[in-house]
Amino acid sequence: MSTRWTKSTLIFGGAAIWGLLLVSCVVSDRTIVAPPKIAGANYVGTKKCLECHEETGGHFADATHAKLALKDEKGVDISCESCHGGGSVHVKAGGGKGTVINPAKTPEACFACHLDKRGEFALPNAHPLDNVACSDCHDLHKGKAIARTGAELETPNETCTKCHTAQKGPFLFPHQAMQEGCTACHNPHGTVNQKMLVARDANLCLRCHLEHPSTVSVSGVPGVIGDGKIAVGGEDHRSRLQNGTCWVAGCHEDVHGSNASKAMRY
Ligand code: HEC
Ligand code: HEC
Ligand code: HEC
Ligand code: HEC
Ligand code: HEC
Ligand code: HEC
Ligand code: HEC
Repeated sequence: MSTRWTKSTLIFGGAAIWGLLLVSCVVSDRTIVAPPKIAGANYVGTKKCLECHEETGGHFADATHAKLALKDEKGVDISCESCHGGGSVHVKAGGGKGTVINPAKTPEACFACHLDKRGEFALPNAHPLDNVACSDCHDLHKGKAIARTGAELETPNETCTKCHTAQKGPFLFPHQAMQEGCTACHNPHGTVNQKMLVARDANLCLRCHLEHPSTVSVSGVPGVIGDGKIAVGGEDHRSRLQNGTCWVAGCHEDVHGSNASKAMRY
């Protein structure tokens, strides 16, 4: 998250020297710049693309990837082709399918720069890229590539609930954690844990729910630090946590929200 690319590192030459530049264009530990190649194709420039694709590409100026502002050796903007590959063959054919890269059909164009994402999607629990495309969750042609606006809490969740309708609600007893977004508990690219959870045990919930032991009183005597109590919701959960995760059968099974139980037990 911390490293930002600088424009000057990204203005470089034509197709012939991509390979060389690749090595020198490591802009962060996660992202390198290596536009995809199409055999026999050269770059034609963004202006050319927009002659036919104004509708799709016309708002690209405010897109996250517009900041890259990739240029060829003559200074021509080749932003579109940084994801779609050189366009000359496509343009010569008058457009059409199969002559230019469509990342909805393959994530390879994205992996070329986002090397680390290939690894995340290879983890034991990940979205299956045969059925789900990067562009199902990221809009690359306009606005922020990550849907997230402070004003609209719904936005990041809608990215997910258009497919996962069961988690959408509204619920009679909603879980406030959902306001932080699905990513409060899931990494949608993939994790080592079941259901792409960001933690595999009670820590997933205790991050937000652990209370001071003094909230638990036994015979009118409040708990103190060091007495071993695990205070959650004003109750000592020590023995409960021995049953397994917080969401095992019989506990908080309906963790996304419930229509029957305030404690989301079913
Ligand atoms: C002469 C007009 C024209 C130009 C110029 C043009 N395209 Fe296209 N493009 C088309 C047409 C027509 C299609 C097919 C649309 C369809 O069948 O739905 C297409 C399809 C595409 C597709 C989908 C391909 C697929 O296999 O699914 C992409 C991606 C694309 N163009 C990107 C670009 C980019 C990037 C540029 C600039 C380098 C560009 N186009 C320039 C006319 C053009
Ligand atoms: C950061 C990567 C990226 C960049 C840069 C990019 N695109 Fe795309 N493009 C995609 C992805 C992903 C898809 C497939 C899903 C979709 O339609 O959003 C796509 C699909 C397309 C399509 C076919 C589907 C359609 O909506 O017609 C066209 C045409 C297209 N892009 C044109 C452009 C143009 C023109 C530009 C430059 C202004 C551009 N793209 C820049 C990633 C990118
Ligand atoms: C030419 C290289 C390149 C290509 C191709 C590329 N990206 Fe990126 N992308 C970048 C760079 C550079 C950043 C900024 C990274 C950073 O801040 O560390 C970025 C940022 C992002 C972000 C994060 C935005 C944010 O707000 O933090 C997303 C999401 C993203 N890209 C998705 C994609 C997807 C999906 C594709 C394929 C359709 C793609 N990218 C293709 C270079 C690329
Ligand atoms: C199922 C939805 C989903 C899919 C599919 C998906 N992403 Fe993401 N991606 C997200 C969400 C949500 C975030 C924001 C994560 C956060 O805020 O913690 C994100 C963040 C990112 C980021 C910036 C932060 C980071 O983790 O580096 C990049 C880059 C990125 N995605 C690239 C990709 C690429 C490339 C693909 C396809 C190979 C892809 N994503 C597929 C949902 C998705
Ligand atoms: C384009 C549709 C689509 C979108 C959008 C989508 N998913 Fe998925 N998701 C799937 C598919 C397909 C699977 C794998 C099949 C399955 O197990 O249900 C899956 C699986 C999952 C699983 C594991 C389910 C299981 O039973 O193991 C979780 C958790 C999940 N997605 C969370 C998310 C989150 C969080 C987001 C938003 C960032 C998201 N998904 C966006 C289609 C989608
Ligand atoms: C408070 C943490 C938390 C939040 C926030 C959260 N989830 Fe989950 N999710 C879980 C847990 C825990 C499981 C595992 C439940 C189980 O295995 O019984 C799960 C399981 C899932 C599954 C697999 C099906 C199932 O119910 O077992 C899907 C799909 C899913 N979540 C999608 C989402 C979506 C979409 C969002 C956002 C709208 C979201 N989750 C937000 C904790 C959370
Ligand atoms: C991102 C923070 C966050 C995470 C993670 C989280 N919660 Fe919550 N949860 C809340 C907030 C905020 C409330 C509402 C205030 C309260 O009751 O503490 C809440 C309320 C609840 C309630 C209802 C309490 C009541 O009786 O009204 C239960 C039960 C619950 N959470 C269980 C869980 C479980 C189980 C997990 C782990 C799968 C979890 N929470 C993870 C933030 C979180």
